[in-house]
Amino acid sequence: MTRQVSDFRSDTVTRPTPKMRRAMAEAVVGDDVLGDDPTVNRLEAKAAAILGMEAALFVPSGTMGNEIAINVFTSPGDEIILDNRSHIYLYEAAGPALISGVQVRPIDTNDGVIPLDTIRASIRDSSDVHCPTTRLFCIENTHNMHGGRVLPIDYLRGLRELSLERRIPIHLDGARIFNASAATGISPAQYASLADSVMFCLSKGLGAPIGSMLVGTSDFIDKARRVRKVLGGGMRQVGVIAAPAIIALDEMTQRLHIDNENAKKLALGIAGLPGVMLDPETVDTNIVFVRFEPPAPLTEDIFRELEKRGVLCIPLGPNVIRFVTHFDVNESDVERLIGAMRETLSGPT
Ligand SMILES: Cc1ncc(COP(=O)(O)O)c(C=O)c1O
Repeated sequence: MTRQVSDFRSDTVTRPTPKMRRAMAEAVVGDDVLGDDPTVNRLEAKAAAILGMEAALFVPSGTMGNEIAINVFTSPGDEIILDNRSHIYLYEAAGPALISGVQVRPIDTNDGVIPLDTIRASIRDSSDVHCPTTRLFCIENTHNMHGGRVLPIDYLRGLRELSLERRIPIHLDGARIFNASAATGISPAQYASLADSVMFCLSKGLGAPIGSMLVGTSDFIDKARRVRKVLGGGMRQVGVIAAPAIIALDEMTQRLHIDNENAKKLALGIAGLPGVMLDPETVDTNIVFVRFEPPAPLTEDIFRELEKRGVLCIPLGPNVIRFVTHFDVNESDVERLIGAMRETLSGPT
């Protein structure tokens, strides 16, 4: 099939590979709510082993994984500290308030790294009658709305010390933790060792059609399994979607460096075009945020020009566009994007 468009909207647009589709057709299944879907059990054991944690739970979405973790670690009236551009704060439809009755304490940052002093100063406890108790730190790595930035490992070590000292657990929204690993060489297990729970997505750069994993201690996962049921996420013969997820973990994790490299090429190709504000050095992984200033047109107009040239992207407001690389866009798609951008921004010659 000829590719009609070069789709840089998100790594969620990836479609299952032919091998994944075969695995879906042939999956051995059972009733997973009763614990007897062997393919799901295999996936959960594999995810726990890769992350170096005791247990794992297959959940329908990253959002559900994050919200379950918050629910397990908190009680209504507690407070959680997170970055104000985190997925949990921006895009989970007030889930922490709605599902867990907790208050969020969003903190403004340039890159998802909340200074440890700021976190320390933000921790509250109910020994003061006016205050909620801080029960959870949520971090995001890579950080989507900070352009796929990787959180520095030294920062994560410092946060871990603080978390142990204050007995406040850390939930890592690691939707794209394998992209972080591909960029840094730091294994997902090393990242996980600095958190109490990790959610990662199978349906983004890893290419599985559906699903995310939540990992943590056995006790945490036992509680999480119950919350998943409450939220309607207990699924039955779900081996049909666990089977491609196993392929995602075995194989697709090994190729993410290509997506990261393509994002860098994309950034190098468009930095320097008229009106583009982009430092390719800030592109750590597979997400590229491009800011525009005059003489560049508004992003809606750029979006339309790119679309006419077969390139899809997501405008985030009047002067920022997000491009995401993944296994359904290759180097020639990147070239196509760079060419389309050059034509759009250089104006009539
Ligand atoms: C950082 C991050 N966390 C969580 C999610 C939620 O994943 P899902 O779309 O599977 O609910 C996303 C989705 O884009 C994300 O980018």
